[in-house]
Amino acid sequence: MKVLLIGSGGREHALAWKIAQSPLLSKLYAAPGNPGIADHAELVALDIDSHDAVVSFCKENDIDFVVVGPEAPLVAGLADSLRAAGIDTFGPSAAAAQLEGSKGFTKDVCARFNIPTGAYQRFNNAPKAKAYIRAQGAPIVIKADGLAAGKGVTVAMTVEEALAAIDDCFEGAFGAAGAEVVVEAYLDGEEASFFCLSDGKTLLPLATAQDHKRVGDGDTGPNTGGMGAYSPAPVMTAELVERTMKEIIEPTMRGMAEMGMPFSGVFFAGLMITAKGPELIEYNVRFGDPECQVLMMRLKSDLLPLLHAAATGRLHEVTAEWHDDPALTVVLASKGYPGNYAKNTAIGTLPPETTGAKVFHAGTAVKDGQLVATGGRVLNATAMGEDIAAAQTAAYKLVDGISWDNGFCRRDIGWRALARGE
Ligand code: AMP
Ligand code: GLY
Repeated sequence: MKVLLIGSGGREHALAWKIAQSPLLSKLYAAPGNPGIADHAELVALDIDSHDAVVSFCKENDIDFVVVGPEAPLVAGLADSLRAAGIDTFGPSAAAAQLEGSKGFTKDVCARFNIPTGAYQRFNNAPKAKAYIRAQGAPIVIKADGLAAGKGVTVAMTVEEALAAIDDCFEGAFGAAGAEVVVEAYLDGEEASFFCLSDGKTLLPLATAQDHKRVGDGDTGPNTGGMGAYSPAPVMTAELVERTMKEIIEPTMRGMAEMGMPFSGVFFAGLMITAKGPELIEYNVRFGDPECQVLMMRLKSDLLPLLHAAATGRLHEVTAEWHDDPALTVVLASKGYPGNYAKNTAIGTLPPETTGAKVFHAGTAVKDGQLVATGGRVLNATAMGEDIAAAQTAAYKLVDGISWDNGFCRRDIGWRALARGE
């Protein structure tokens, strides 16, 4: 099978690494890719915003299957353009990708199909939103409706903070993404992520994970795209996984099909485990970054047939096997992230891959023969261990083998699982 992978982050390096191990693969291309992905794939300088360019490349190179990593091309309908051209594609249609592209859409799906989530209202103007907030009181959560790179959410502990967030949104802080706002009840509990493949009519549960969104140790400082993750998430007991499937994922899959927008791809459910059980915080319609890195390390099965089955309505034919051992990944970011940071800082040698331990690339490039950091999140030191403590030790051993003066990382990834004594 000839495969084209779309994307350039740590998530896509992990996908490329895993797909490259498949006996079904004859050739892997990646667009645009990164220097880590180049170890497993031929990089193609394609403009992925041009659906015509991607379709033409696939036709000219007899691509059998396209795997779309990030959300933006899915929300923009790349999977629709590829499928219209007869090319099998992993990732939902633009209509189904609204589950990530519009928070209001997702809340309406939850309301219609009785899926547990925080009570909410949608608003397209500030005065009504503010009146609702004053009536509800704090804590309360304000969300820009559209894609805002993880920055469109304010968890307001006071009414004043919530009102200020409303002004920010309607004054354009998030561009078009903030033209509509969701105001939502604050949910109290521990967060977890759950991943499940869907072909539109069958589900294949994958695994659980936990992210670390804040930039600083002890979950302090501003939100980021994710500073580290581990899988599985001990908070997600077998019973909670079963409830999540029955109460959240299955009704979503059935509901999306009923609305004429069947979902094929991966459901990435952001959950809050409240006193009542699992409640949906948000859906993403692609693998998490950095959650994907730990999932790929734990996946024993060949990834390619799983993704292909999800894309072609044959999910009932496949199963997935997992290593019981947990995996943990530590993100190394450029100093200053998630604010401003220097670009093109030199990265020295990286530790070699060993069984169960690998550094994935995210925002890296090679300039004049030198590996440099070009992004905010740059490297992912990822390792397995017999328990979380061992995986954490192994991941930080990798971190300590990386020489990069302008990099930093959290030193406490996994703390929540360790605090439970698991
Ligand atoms: P989201 O982009 O929807 O994942 O929101 C970003 C973060 O805000 C989540 O990971 C949670 O930590 C927090 N959050 C979002 N919605 C709620 C909610 N209803 N109650 C409490 N925290 C929330
Ligand atoms: N790490 C969170 C995300 O990928 O959205």
